[in-house]
Amino acid sequence: MEALTYTPEMWSGMFADRMSTMRKSAVRDLFEAAARPDIISLSGGMPEISSMPLDVVARVASDSVLKEGVAALQYGTTPGRIECRRVACDIMVGDGLSDIDPENVMLTSGAQQALDLLGRVFINPGDVIFCEGPTYLGALQAFSAYQPEFHCIEMDGDGMRVDLLEEELRKLGRGKAKFVYCIPNFQNPTGVTLSDERRHRLVELSHEYGLPIIEDNPYGRLRYTGDPIAPMRSYDPNVIYLGTVSKIFAPGMRIGWIVMPPEVFAKVNHAKQGGDLCGSTINQVMVEHYFHDTEWESVLATLVKKYAERRDAMLTALEDFFPKEATFTRPDGGFFIWATIPGIDTKKMLDVALAHGVTFVPGVGCYPDGRGGESMRIAFCYESPENLREAIRRLADAIQEQR
Ligand SMILES: Cc1ncc(COP(=O)(O)O)c(C=O)c1O
Repeated sequence: MEALTYTPEMWSGMFADRMSTMRKSAVRDLFEAAARPDIISLSGGMPEISSMPLDVVARVASDSVLKEGVAALQYGTTPGRIECRRVACDIMVGDGLSDIDPENVMLTSGAQQALDLLGRVFINPGDVIFCEGPTYLGALQAFSAYQPEFHCIEMDGDGMRVDLLEEELRKLGRGKAKFVYCIPNFQNPTGVTLSDERRHRLVELSHEYGLPIIEDNPYGRLRYTGDPIAPMRSYDPNVIYLGTVSKIFAPGMRIGWIVMPPEVFAKVNHAKQGGDLCGSTINQVMVEHYFHDTEWESVLATLVKKYAERRDAMLTALEDFFPKEATFTRPDGGFFIWATIPGIDTKKMLDVALAHGVTFVPGVGCYPDGRGGESMRIAFCYESPENLREAIRRLADAIQEQR
């Protein structure tokens, strides 16, 4: 047959309505720029893995094949290997969850897949869901595919303003919203932690108004100052809890998990069967070996020390170089600081910042509704303290020029 001409018009009008509401990732768009050698990137939340002991990981990989044999290469069950789900339970003991039954744990391709699956099983177009404002842009992206009505609840230094959530719930009534999505520890993008008192109040509201809670905790183990606060799942078994190895081992493993009540588990299992049949068996085996057979806690302790130094370097640089009217958060852990510069449109400023050799995530990317225009998310996880200081100096120059 003669080669046919490629006709782009053929595709127009073919795509599902949901594609028009699906969001692009503000961070992934910056990846190309962030890879340039002249750029210091404050945009990506990429863990620092350059100090990962590669010989140890290589042994783990080799053991995974040699000790498990072909089982490591076979399809697995949809919720994942029970051995790996037990490892997730062992990890969660360190997060303050000591009584999780591995039967209630489903492994996912990172916590990101968990967000997509939960969106799929809960959200009908137009359903109300609550989240923090601002919130994790990957969650906005995952949930927006299912066309919810986002209600973002403002935050302050103690996390989500649960009093404002209560006001909204009172207006809406019981059972009228599908869930509240919340990142209680060192939130992405603000770095703010939800106080113990507010966590308890959120759980009370959840019962009063029949509102499921999704508690996403990828950064809980990355605490640099202050005392840990118990996760809501530790006192309410209705809470849907998300974990991941991305920040305590390696994001390339793509292993995360959801802890959920049996009723939710059954639905998510059903949704996941159609999504991927099962997760990567070999990666689950590697995670089992890494967390059983290595000194992973000491690798993590070294990492936490490094991140703490970087946070301090960025805070000092912000104090030294940023305009006096700017405000910024002072996180006790995690990867991010949220800065607000009154009168500056941070999205417009991005090109100026790139010309000065620095990237960040404009605040509007972290809201579904155009808010956040004067804010930015700046990540301190990936660059050295010296580069962070230089990046903040460049950013201050860009702000000056933008004015
Ligand atoms: C709040 C939050 N949830 C979920 C994820 C996704 O993590 P994972 O690598 O496990 O998919 C991230 C990643 O940065 C995150 O910040």
